[in-house]
Amino acid sequence: MTPADQIPQDASSLVLRRPDDWHVHLRDGGMLASVVEYTARQFARAIVMPNLKPPVTTVAEAKAYRDRINACLPPGSTFQPLMTCYLTDTSAPHEIERGFAEGVFTACKLYPAHATTNSDHGVTDIRNLLRVLETLQRIGMPLLVHGEVTDRHIDIFDREAVFIERVLIGMLRDFPALKVVFEHITTSEAVAFVEAGGPNIAATITPHHLAINRNAMFEGGIRPHFYCLPVAKREPHRLALRKAATSGSAKFFLGTDSAPHAAADKESACGCAGIFNAPYALESYAATFEEEQALDRLEGFASIHGPDFYGLPLNEEMITLKRTRTLVPETLVTGSASVVPFHAGETLAWRLVI
Ligand code: DOR
Ligand code: ZN
Repeated sequence: MTPADQIPQDASSLVLRRPDDWHVHLRDGGMLASVVEYTARQFARAIVMPNLKPPVTTVAEAKAYRDRINACLPPGSTFQPLMTCYLTDTSAPHEIERGFAEGVFTACKLYPAHATTNSDHGVTDIRNLLRVLETLQRIGMPLLVHGEVTDRHIDIFDREAVFIERVLIGMLRDFPALKVVFEHITTSEAVAFVEAGGPNIAATITPHHLAINRNAMFEGGIRPHFYCLPVAKREPHRLALRKAATSGSAKFFLGTDSAPHAAADKESACGCAGIFNAPYALESYAATFEEEQALDRLEGFASIHGPDFYGLPLNEEMITLKRTRTLVPETLVTGSASVVPFHAGETLAWRLVI
């Protein structure tokens, strides 16, 4: 086995500790049954987003959702879903604390109300969360943040940078020891903010924000399968994300934000936000790390920095990525719907072998 820090650039295989996905949407019902196997094949654990309809806000709901996920896993799978609590204006600190103590909730998720898919019950004003934030800081429970303001007067491409100014800076001034994961960052401002923060501030980075800039949504026409939130930004931002992800800094780790929607719901006059990258997520990250000549840093980003931040053990099992040309299908059938995967129709250089 080649240790990860001695990987030659032309290696024909890559052996890593099995990674985890620190941000994924597994959905529910038929979609859950169709998509969970892709995540379970690649990752040992995943932080499961709670933006169902209705959202997962209580310990009982999280347990029931975890049971539904486990019931959909292929036989013999050891995949472990890690549950999150969807914060609302009226979230009860004692319910969150109990869920964390019982090992049901791993983290809380802050959606600003109306920021994205199923966020209508999200938080309308951060001041409504003061007692919750106090509790999270005291018990060391991570707060996962969808960092975009929802003010219609703010240009959609500026919403993340403005969120830092209007919300994050004040929140961390008031709760300096709060553990915060700035989710799916898309801007150089977010990279700089995370780098300047203490060890209690980290960020996840998606495969798609490393691979595309905002032009991808408009190449020769509207391309709904490249639309997600936060929306991809200009090229200099993508380059800043690639630098951060491949830097070796423990503050940046893998979170796919894989967010499946039926193709018909995206190819619509008002298409849903979300990119379904679960089937080839590691292959996509490997492409970025190889292009940046940083394959030796992939294991840290994918398998070490995340568990270290969350205070969880590293996975012992190893996986192998093989250098083999891999054609990504145009669509994947999921029960009654079809879903278009990220990189559809492209050939990737790596393939995860079991
Ligand atoms: O593009 C996105 N899709 N961003 C989110 O924040 C939510 C997600 C979804 O649930 O579809
Ligand atoms: Zn998400």
